[in-house]
Amino acid sequence: MSKNPIILGIETSCDETAVSIIQDHESGIPKILSNIVSSQVDIHKEFGGVVPELAARSHVEKINLIAKKTLDESNMRLENISAVAATAGPGLMICLSVGLNFGKALASSLNVPFIGVNHLEGHALSPKLHTNINYPYLLLLISGGHSQFLSVNGLGKYKRLGTTIDDALGEAFDKTAKLLGIEFPGGPKLEKFAERGDSNKFDLPKPIISKGGCNLSFAGLKTAILRITKNIKTEQEKYDLAASFQKTIEEILSIKSKIAFDEFLKINSVKKKSFVVAGGVAANNGIRKKLIQTSNNNNFEVIFPNPKLCGDNAAMIAMVGMEMFKLKKFNNLDFPVTPRLPLDKNAAFLKGAGIKL
Ligand SMILES: Nc1ncnc2c1ncn2[C@@H]1O[C@H](COP(=O)(O)OP(=O)(O)OP(=O)(O)O)[C@@H](O)[C@H]1O
Ligand SMILES: [Mg+2]
Repeated sequence: MSKNPIILGIETSCDETAVSIIQDHESGIPKILSNIVSSQVDIHKEFGGVVPELAARSHVEKINLIAKKTLDESNMRLENISAVAATAGPGLMICLSVGLNFGKALASSLNVPFIGVNHLEGHALSPKLHTNINYPYLLLLISGGHSQFLSVNGLGKYKRLGTTIDDALGEAFDKTAKLLGIEFPGGPKLEKFAERGDSNKFDLPKPIISKGGCNLSFAGLKTAILRITKNIKTEQEKYDLAASFQKTIEEILSIKSKIAFDEFLKINSVKKKSFVVAGGVAANNGIRKKLIQTSNNNNFEVIFPNPKLCGDNAAMIAMVGMEMFKLKKFNNLDFPVTPRLPLDKNAAFLKGAGIKL
């Protein structure tokens, strides 16, 4: 058996069946030996969103095969695995159960530790698969279900600084794309639309931009877009609206990031100021460019996961598993599936809190 731990990670929280094997390395950056993501986009496309029963059935059908392929690709044997890490939440209950139970069974049969992972912590640690980053760091998590600024103080130690009070950013991208007639999942395609349009054509609102600290809000933006799309007649106008939406999002994130920088520095004294932007929406090139500029102007080093590691994948789950393994933080086989699992358990639930800000 290799002296460097090898972790097998499993992710089935939503509509991706993913398995990865990573190995610890002296550099502090683990090697990704294999990382397979099987997307279910084709299954859910005709419904315009993820259908939980279909997603779970597909996970059941594929998980064995994906795990076998991952093992083959890594050139490892099951006996080489040091621990199994699987997403326990948040996500769809019946989807999470497939990966979590598969992981427990595998760990038990191999007689190695089992580790239950918070999917969001996977996103938070995803750039550690290619960059050394020290705690604490500021995180902007922008994904399909979450939009939050957090101070990442250590493994499992999160202080939320701001959150969306309504829609998540990925949701705002997907809903706007749907209104523009772009098929599901629209986020990445909307960015392509935006490249062909004039971003100054439509003046869109920036909800709660001058109140609520670094909390975020995107629902008003969606309502404005709904109103505009009713009068849109040409393809070019669609591109212009997409470009205006993209620019508005970039500006909102830039302004709110500056507030988050200050809030982060109020509670942390750090030599190096690191800003991680992770989650599916972190793959957006326009957002990347804008936040690089904002970070440079404020002496923060911005770090994005590699584009392939922004969306859901199991390498990020194995990454959390690796850190937990080194701290000997293992879980029992009765570790529960938890559909709602915030990173900062002490933070108040703020959805719908608009008027109180
Ligand atoms: N280039 C892009 N521009 C904008 N949005 C994008 C881009 N690429 C992906 N997205 C969006 O990212 C989201 C998916 O991200 P992710 O897989 O992290 O979300 P999730 O796992 O469904 O949610 P969560 O991680 O909060 O549970 C989708 O809403 C998708 O449209
Ligand atoms: Mg995700």
